[in-house]
Amino acid sequence: MTASFVVVANRLPVDRVTDESGEVSWRTSPGGLVTALEPVMRSHGGAWVGWHGAPDEEIDGFHHDGYDIVPVALSSQEHEEYYEGFSNATLWPLYHDTVAFPEFHREWWLAYQHVNRRFAEAAAAVADEGATVWVQDYQLQLVPRLLRELRPDLRIGFFLHIPFPPTELFSQLPWRTDIIEGLLGADLVGFQVAGGAQNFLRLVRNRTPHPVEQGRVRVSDSHSCVARAYPISIDTAGFAALAEEPETIAESEQLLADLGNPKRIFLGVDRLDYTKGLRQRIRAMGELFHEGKLDPTETVYLQVATPSRERVGEYMRLRDDIDLLVGRINSEMGSVGHPPIVYLHKGFPRRTMAAMYRIADVMLVTPLRDGMNLVAKEYVACHPGNGGALVLSEFAGAARELRQAYSVNPYDLDGMKGVFMRALNDPYRERSKRMRALKKQVSTHTIDRWADNFLGDLASV
Ligand code: ADP
Ligand code: G6P
Repeated sequence: MTASFVVVANRLPVDRVTDESGEVSWRTSPGGLVTALEPVMRSHGGAWVGWHGAPDEEIDGFHHDGYDIVPVALSSQEHEEYYEGFSNATLWPLYHDTVAFPEFHREWWLAYQHVNRRFAEAAAAVADEGATVWVQDYQLQLVPRLLRELRPDLRIGFFLHIPFPPTELFSQLPWRTDIIEGLLGADLVGFQVAGGAQNFLRLVRNRTPHPVEQGRVRVSDSHSCVARAYPISIDTAGFAALAEEPETIAESEQLLADLGNPKRIFLGVDRLDYTKGLRQRIRAMGELFHEGKLDPTETVYLQVATPSRERVGEYMRLRDDIDLLVGRINSEMGSVGHPPIVYLHKGFPRRTMAAMYRIADVMLVTPLRDGMNLVAKEYVACHPGNGGALVLSEFAGAARELRQAYSVNPYDLDGMKGVFMRALNDPYRERSKRMRALKKQVSTHTIDRWADNFLGDLASV
């Protein structure tokens, strides 16, 4: 199979899972990249090149939801060195302002180069003559250049879903120039916010010989690369419609009953990741219960966290810390049938997420650093009426767009506690004024618009 439109991402939209009895099934892959790109692929068609989530398994391509799936295999050693190592223990913390310590290992870098070449070759094999290939995210930053070498006829875009760090931090990376040159293989490189594009262009000026003029880098006589911001979004209408379906409403009513019909519900929805500010958020909520500002017999804080990158050290430590924190608060502040925090370490179907968004009076989105954060937008799209309240960290990309959210600095515990209470207790007039503005923003800035903007520019640069 070949295609005129190809997306290349480390993850496929579906993961292949084998249970203990050897039964194989597919489930939606975790994370915002898949949430955002899946509707784009459904409407554009084409091919999605990516890994299916199971190491050491070679599988054939197949057709799914109107487009082709092209699996790229990873050995368990590559999984360890390229995925868990270089992608998620070097680049992920480095790009998120080093909120955890990035590790630099030469074997990981070798594996990263090797696997990036495999993805480039897989993309080259499925792309039609003159096709558009859109490479995604930090795991594949060398692919644009490798692909251009293999297939100069292609139009190549790249989008980074996570923050692009300040130059001082990026410069720690022993392989910094290789990564910049890798990205410069694209015709268009997109970032979540304007600051990311600026950081990137500053690095190009400082660390490469290529001239830069008005966001355009002249890489060679025949090739230039443009860097620009394209804030990503969600299928707003799709989420809003899902939240209004009778099955979703029934599920939300059941959920409310299962929680003991509390008067007020706070909600957190995250991958279990140290960038999401969970330690600080839970501590702040715990203090509010302790100080009697929140009554555990009438208020519930529901926190769901999808398991993520579970063999990486920082993620194991985070999981233990959260278990401990939640256990301590519940054992001290709870009573029989009334734990103040209901914490679930698992992923849920999208309908259940919509049901949770429906019943949450206050949505807590408090990352220490986040490229965008789609959960914030999903809440705005799904919560019915204008009575809900979104608390949003100033360090999420989404804060640039969702200006009417209740803004917090997640490092400031007292400040956060104050804002959590304000979001809960502000008069309806104030909350609804904010929510109306948020809904307007999210309904006009959709994933379709994002894809059209990026692909339109890619066609014309
Ligand atoms: P990230 O991409 O870093 O995980 P985002 O907020 O951009 O962060 O996207 C997270 C996506 O994962 C959202 O679409 C959200 O609905 C989904 N998600 C998060 N937690 C869960 C969960 N426990 N169950 C199901 N989906 C979840
Ligand atoms: C973020 C990243 C994605 C990644 C997702 C889930 O959204 O930007 O590239 O796919 O997290 O992480 P995982 O490591 O499970 O793919």
